[in-house]
Amino acid sequence: MLASPLAPADVPTGPQDAPTVQVRSNTNTLPSSWWSSERLYELERRAIFSQSWLFVTHVSRFEKEGSYFTFEIAGYPFFVIREKAAPGQELEKPVLRAFHNACRHRAYPVAKKKEGNVGMAGVLSCGYHGWCYDTRGALRKAPQFDNVPGFNKSENGLFSIHTHVTDTGLVFVNFTASPNPPPFQEIFRGFEDEMKEFDFSQYEYRESYELRGDFNWKALMDGYQECYHCPTAHPGLTKAFSIPTYKVMPRSNYCRHFADQRPARAAPPPKRPGERQRSGSITEWLGSFIFAEQVAEQEALEKARNSAGEFDGLWVYTFPNSGINCYSPAWYTLRVVPVSATKTVLEYDIYQKKGVDEQEILEFIDFLKQVEQEDFDLCQATQRNLRAGVYTTGVLHPEKENGVLYYQNLVRERVLEHHELEKAAGREISPASLGSRDSAEDDVCRGLESGSCGGGKDLEW
Ligand code: FES
Ligand SMILES: [Fe+2]
Repeated sequence: MLASPLAPADVPTGPQDAPTVQVRSNTNTLPSSWWSSERLYELERRAIFSQSWLFVTHVSRFEKEGSYFTFEIAGYPFFVIREKAAPGQELEKPVLRAFHNACRHRAYPVAKKKEGNVGMAGVLSCGYHGWCYDTRGALRKAPQFDNVPGFNKSENGLFSIHTHVTDTGLVFVNFTASPNPPPFQEIFRGFEDEMKEFDFSQYEYRESYELRGDFNWKALMDGYQECYHCPTAHPGLTKAFSIPTYKVMPRSNYCRHFADQRPARAAPPPKRPGERQRSGSITEWLGSFIFAEQVAEQEALEKARNSAGEFDGLWVYTFPNSGINCYSPAWYTLRVVPVSATKTVLEYDIYQKKGVDEQEILEFIDFLKQVEQEDFDLCQATQRNLRAGVYTTGVLHPEKENGVLYYQNLVRERVLEHHELEKAAGREISPASLGSRDSAEDDVCRGLESGSCGGGKDLEW
């Protein structure tokens, strides 16, 4: 669990009695080789990341037409851009589009910055040979290609990526090259309604940060999906939440997390009006924002809130690699971005409540980073042992680690199913791949990669 014990979100009690998914009876972790094998990671890319709906960002970040943000998930560089109306025209409503960030000429990235805007020109210009694409991905200019026989601009637009934007503005992408991606609402049944409990419109983007880890992406997901480790690893967290009440509710390719906030105690009053303190329990710390004469009033408020069981927050894991965590002063997202079998980037985006006190948000972020660092350290040390070749698998608690069981079973199912498909086909199947892979030249590479000329052999068939 990566959530920080901060002020509760203004959300009603969550549907704790909503039907949940029963986790299968397999109670062991996946084998440790799945945390370090590069071949297995490549199979995960094909089986999972190239055809799942992946959470990316929130629409509120695209303030103007032509704004874009670049991302890379599991080795797929792409960008999301808000369409810009043609000169003299207006769009009825904002439209977001996503494209692979590869020029159709010779594959140079067309969007070079982390974020930007196409500006008045309305096009992204490739920095290699100057091909230009509009915000719908159409090729507008290909210098000196006008008289090349057989060349057709309309056949050389950017490769588009499926997008889905929820009613609450959460943006997902799916890299599958199939024109028919799995229907979002069927994959994440009930997700869109559940997210409506939080009023995202009251928040604005504040900042992002990242942590670069030497561990497999699943190392972080393992910790995210349970709070069994909280009493030992997150001392601050246990002061704010009643850990025995912590539960993970598997839904439909996502999980909702719940915990009761611990009853508030009166905070020690500041020594002088306006002074903030940060000591003792986190609950005390939360209370320490108030002046001495306001303590009693705040205490009564906290008690009423807790005894009513009002606090649930809105903490959600979406398969395979993201977390969306909503509190009152801010909400933040986590993209767990695999880079290789043993390298992962944790990308955090923080959205603050409009008009929130600056000191309050600074302390929120401080505490958030402290909890994230604790989880990061767990992953670094665990990964070293997963690679040592001693530990192979361990038993998971059927209740306290049901979230880990749930998501690991999804990984297991997807990977084994895809592996069977590839065995039957006698070749790799890459759902995100565009264009033909059946040339004789490609056959040369396939032979080399399959191990017949010295490649790895752990997943060959
Ligand atoms: S690679 Fe983009 S113009 Fe040549
Ligand atoms: Fe944690």
